[in-house]
Amino acid sequence: MRTHWCGELRPAHAGQRVALCGWVHRRRDLGGLVFLDLRDREGVVQVVCTPQHPAHATAQQVRPEYVVRVQGQVVLRPAHTVNPKIPTGEVEVRAETLEVLNPSRTPPFEVADDAEVDETVRLRYRYLDLRRERMQRNLRLRHRLAKATRDFLDREGFWEVETPHLIRATPEGARDFLVPSRLHPGKFYVLPQSPQLLKQILMVAGVERYFQLARCFRDEDLRADRQPEFTQIDVEMSFVDRDDVLGLVERLVQHLMREALGVEVPAPFPRLSYREALLRYGTDKPDLRYGLAIEDVTELAKAAELRLFREAEAVRCLRVPEGAATPRRELEHLVAVAVEAGAPGLLHLALQPDGPKGPLARHLTDGLLDAVCSATGAGRGDLLVFVAGAGDVASAALGKVRQHVAGRLGMVRDGTFAYAWVLDFPLLEWAPEEGRYVAVHHPFTAPVDEDEEHLESDPLRVRAKAYDLVLNGVEVAGGSIRIHRRDLQERVFRLLGIGPEQAQERFGFLLEAFQYGAPPHGGIAFGFDRLVMVLAGEDTIRDVIAFPKTASAVDLMMGAPSEVDEAQLREVHIAVRKPAVP
Ligand code: AMO
Repeated sequence: MRTHWCGELRPAHAGQRVALCGWVHRRRDLGGLVFLDLRDREGVVQVVCTPQHPAHATAQQVRPEYVVRVQGQVVLRPAHTVNPKIPTGEVEVRAETLEVLNPSRTPPFEVADDAEVDETVRLRYRYLDLRRERMQRNLRLRHRLAKATRDFLDREGFWEVETPHLIRATPEGARDFLVPSRLHPGKFYVLPQSPQLLKQILMVAGVERYFQLARCFRDEDLRADRQPEFTQIDVEMSFVDRDDVLGLVERLVQHLMREALGVEVPAPFPRLSYREALLRYGTDKPDLRYGLAIEDVTELAKAAELRLFREAEAVRCLRVPEGAATPRRELEHLVAVAVEAGAPGLLHLALQPDGPKGPLARHLTDGLLDAVCSATGAGRGDLLVFVAGAGDVASAALGKVRQHVAGRLGMVRDGTFAYAWVLDFPLLEWAPEEGRYVAVHHPFTAPVDEDEEHLESDPLRVRAKAYDLVLNGVEVAGGSIRIHRRDLQERVFRLLGIGPEQAQERFGFLLEAFQYGAPPHGGIAFGFDRLVMVLAGEDTIRDVIAFPKTASAVDLMMGAPSEVDEAQLREVHIAVRKPAVP
């Protein structure tokens, strides 16, 4: 039906007869002349309808979002009417015929306009929202990244293997989505939280290098970067150690950045230990687009007059460059940010030209002030802010202050991408509500070799061979080297309070497979939606997913979840128990 895309026409096409199809983007009726902006996936071009042609009469009747076909001639626009804002702005199409292929109701919001529209309306009419330029750009970027991922991994010798969606429950920390079995009354499949166990079994199966753009399902509370179903670039490799996996991922990321964005990122990526990340940035997903690292001044603070400082478990400090003149209201805001993040308070010291100012000024001797300045690199004109208290709380609070300050000082530049590895996570953490240790990553993650001997004597000290990839403060991937020896797996299960019977019941199939020659193996999974989100410059993964759910897990367009017929329920042997109305 068409000879060209609307968006591809350029001066080189002048003189050609073309047929275009698309949607009416805008219409301007100047009486004698009717101008239509015609839009397809590739862009917009101006179409002119003059009274000499029958197209003119039709053009007077079309409205935005009508679907039309135009035939006509491409001509150069007179110099004074060139529109430099659009790539086709030097040409227009003189319409001879204009066919309405389908009219449209008046849309609930203007597709042509990039004004903010309430998200519930966008999601309700997602097909209109997806017509908008920004969303089309995101869909295109997502496609390019998926394609580049497949090309790269294929070249590196990976096979894409599909794993089932109807599986037995595998533990990944979130709640499972259940699927009742019709053929087996009272039994359920669950939807995979990730292909974790199956990809490990593929290693036992001799696949060696596996990947999959895998759909994962987790029934958890949603946030801007969490959906109940999401996509991973899931990878597993045999006969590798940690650095092999990190190296592969760095090459993959470099390839994706080059192919999809034309951006070169230097590798190797910076590496931080989990402890260091918490101490210096107050989070295990630091945004390294800017510095502003937190300093530990606990030892120095012991010399302070102020009891609060001398006796605190930890005193941490953040230097705000050129912040000495920060107005009082903003200082109060920084205190609120810190307190909101759990800090008991936030004290500041403004290094003004005529000497230090602020509540701390009279509590620090000159010697101590000099020592703090040299530890933090602070000088005249800077502001120092301090939190005293438990170490992790102090850093976490300053971490939030750090993000706030970076935003306010304009240190977060669009279009910059800071990747970093966070390594050496603890293997276990204590879950007080459960009264037991739980795996920080998952129960199949291997401990660091030299820490293995402390497994029973000092479990919390044991580090894991786990790694997270962070991009601009977002955790975009996580993985680990796995346990492949049954004896070690049993020791870890024992620590997790998973007895032999329970282990057998939950992952008997994996343990059995491991008895038939499991190679050493490890892998990683990218949150693909999150990666696309950051690269697209969006704030939520909903904007890079064609049909996402709302924060309350509802599909507003299809109206899911919904009730189903009694007959359907009976077929799967389900009786619904509604929660009691309070
Ligand atoms: P993990 O649970 O860390 O590891 O998940 C890997 C990555 O997936 C992304 N992610 C999500 N994205 C959107 N919505 C969600 N609800 C969601 N949950 C997680 C994150 C995260 O870094 N099987 C292991 C991987 C491995 O060990 O190889 C796993 O799934 O970006």
